[in-house]
Amino acid sequence: MGLIRFTQNNMKRVVLTGISRGIGRATAEYFLENGWFVVGTSTTGASTLSHANLTLLQLDLGNAASIAACVSSIRKEGWEIDVLINNAGINPGPDTYPLSIPILRSTLEVDLIGLIDFTEQLLPFMHSEGRIINLTSSAGIIANDAMQVPLTPYRIAKAGLNMYTHTLASRLASQGITVAACHPGWVRTDMGSSHAPKLPQEVAEELFWLATEDIDSGHLWENKRITNW
Ligand SMILES: NC(=O)c1ccc[n+]([C@@H]2O[C@H](COP(=O)([O-])OP(=O)(O)OC[C@H]3O[C@@H](n4cnc5c(N)ncnc54)[C@H](OP(=O)(O)O)[C@@H]3O)[C@@H](O)[C@H]2O)c1
Repeated sequence: MGLIRFTQNNMKRVVLTGISRGIGRATAEYFLENGWFVVGTSTTGASTLSHANLTLLQLDLGNAASIAACVSSIRKEGWEIDVLINNAGINPGPDTYPLSIPILRSTLEVDLIGLIDFTEQLLPFMHSEGRIINLTSSAGIIANDAMQVPLTPYRIAKAGLNMYTHTLASRLASQGITVAACHPGWVRTDMGSSHAPKLPQEVAEELFWLATEDIDSGHLWENKRITNW
């Protein structure tokens, strides 16, 4: 059924988490402007964005039941997914010591474990030449000593996400699914703050490029260039 809907109108479909604000919202708008179907999520299931080709679903990556319900909605629609963009995330901010284990747990649940759970459950619905793009951060790279603010839970989560991206790419290589991680830079959003130099719209254009250009699988990208993990 999904394949029929896909071939009937020749429009591609992206599943994009966290479209209520920031990079996710700008990216949803960019894909819609370029004629894609967007299945977007927010923790409430609401967004100020509305479009005939936009479906909104509730998703809390920190809640296994919410993840299962969101996947179930996608499965029931019979949609085939051309691109999955794992954008949603949290950054609890600077560390306090001793480290808060509840904050560490909740950050890992949302930014890493929930993301992996969601992705694994969606794999059966991916187009055979589909693409998975994970929003990571240079904060997750050990060699990145420029990171002045200690953000231990966030950095651990993104380091883990980098490794998941790497292993998933190897695993899916024979199936033709391309997997990429994208570091968006310092972006003007609720997470990045109003001082950040880069606009979410610039990241949206880069994510669209990663979703549509002929790229190699299993890399970390920044500004449309492969960079070291
Ligand atoms: N901004 C930067 O400078 C920067 C730098 C490097 C990497 N990144 C990465 O880029 C991605 C997007 O960041 P952003 O700056 O756009 O963040 P943002 O403005 O804070 O937006 C975060 C999005 O994630 C969603 N979200 C939050 N908690 C969630 C949960 N438990 N389950 C599901 N969705 C949840 C939010 O939905 P609700 O509105 O419903 O809460 C919102 O749509 C993140 O993965 C972030 O780590 C950002």
